[in-house]
Amino acid sequence: MPSSRRGSGTVTLPTGQLLAVHTRTQDEEDLPHATKKTMADHLRKYESLFTLTPQRMRMIVEAFKETLELGLEKPEQVVPMIPTYVFGWPTGKETGDFLAVDLGGTNLRVCLVTLQGEGKFEMTQTKYRLTEEQKQEDGQKLFDFCAECLKTFVTTNLEDGTLKEGDTLPLGFTFSYPCFQEKIDHGQLIRWTKGFGAPNTEGRDVAAMFRESLRKHNVPVELTALINDTTGTLIASSYVNPRTKIAVIFGTGCNAAYMEQVKDIPKIKQLGIDPDAEMAINCEWGAFDSFEHEHLPRTKYDIIIDEQSNKPGEQAFEKLISGRYLGEILRLVICELIDDGVLFLGQETYKIEIAYALDTAFLSLMESDPTEELLMIIGIFTHFFALETTLAERQFFRALAKLVGRRAARLSACGIAAIVSKMNYLEEGCAVGADGSLYNKYPGFADRVHEGLQDVFGDKGRNIVTYHAEDGSGVGSAIIAAMTKVRKDAGLYLNV
Ligand code: BGC
Repeated sequence: MPSSRRGSGTVTLPTGQLLAVHTRTQDEEDLPHATKKTMADHLRKYESLFTLTPQRMRMIVEAFKETLELGLEKPEQVVPMIPTYVFGWPTGKETGDFLAVDLGGTNLRVCLVTLQGEGKFEMTQTKYRLTEEQKQEDGQKLFDFCAECLKTFVTTNLEDGTLKEGDTLPLGFTFSYPCFQEKIDHGQLIRWTKGFGAPNTEGRDVAAMFRESLRKHNVPVELTALINDTTGTLIASSYVNPRTKIAVIFGTGCNAAYMEQVKDIPKIKQLGIDPDAEMAINCEWGAFDSFEHEHLPRTKYDIIIDEQSNKPGEQAFEKLISGRYLGEILRLVICELIDDGVLFLGQETYKIEIAYALDTAFLSLMESDPTEELLMIIGIFTHFFALETTLAERQFFRALAKLVGRRAARLSACGIAAIVSKMNYLEEGCAVGADGSLYNKYPGFADRVHEGLQDVFGDKGRNIVTYHAEDGSGVGSAIIAAMTKVRKDAGLYLNV
């Protein structure tokens, strides 16, 4: 006799849709379901696959730290440790109007930021959703789209008097993909990440490509800085919380930035910058352990995701952590159990067999389902996949979601720990500005990162505290544009 699938209620989906959920008791007799015991046995297997012991974490941290150091020493390393030409921390006195364009993993955002000094600012913004097609069509077309959106934004703000006719506003372009920078307003795309694949862009200077689109569309702006979202987050967070030493993004992709001493970046020695100056480093740590796969505990599901991605071998760390992949990891486990005849016997499973059909947002809903009957999980499976579940199965899915989410948070803690350890921040402690959908919306993600930091460092791990960061791609980019203007007006390092 299968366990009960009875239950009814409403569920709010990530789309905001309200879903009524009813399960029919007569179905219980019709479909064969796995027993509670079978599900518990399977869970034990996945527990050992997805659990990271403190000892294993410490080994990862050591390898990570060495990789970070290598990236600073030599050019063209797997983790590229990109010098950003953002010199030191903001003073908090930066003022003025700045435009910001943010091409992230999911949206395009255009903002007008007014920095008022004393850590204060105002912002107006418009968001546009990027389609899957736009991510794959010609790169110049993508930048044309960004320019058109910016043009509309500027025109609207001119019409309502927010902007003045004849102004050429400085523009910070937040482009959150790995770019090798020779100077602050230049960036050669090393590789697309997060599922983007727009041709004719890799290897090219994306700032120059965007400038070309701005010129074509006659947009009255001057691109003054090309910025990674993590660098923007680092600067914006420090503007409001000066204890911030590191910024991390856990969203569709993952990455970190921190402030380094120029003397500890041997690969830019030839530029003749004061060795005691400080410069933000965009780590691009999502690439950690790419190609060689020596350090990270990849399961066969991670390997499938990697092999079937548009960039096999690349972004190995990101593929275990970021929001783009977590739902897919869970889906692959479920599909394996379908193939093995454990789950959903006698039901049509084609909907859940579609790659990336299970969004990471579902994973977080599954984990946070407050109802005893796990109504949210009933809702997700019936509404999106037309599948009936038993309570035992739903409990299994929730436990599995926890394992995948927890592993991601603990690996994230390893990355933070590597920077903390490299920079000797442990004793004194520091704040870590964090942003991204996973960090902001996944229940318990931050707590698990903190728990992970304590597993690596013991009690002292408590000295490292993450907090929800300021908007790096908008505010951060404006502050960086302002800092750059001050630097250049002072005639400092004009060549970068
Ligand atoms: C990109 C980084 C970015 C991160 C978070 C990664 O895929 O390579 O540049 O900072 O996603 O958006």
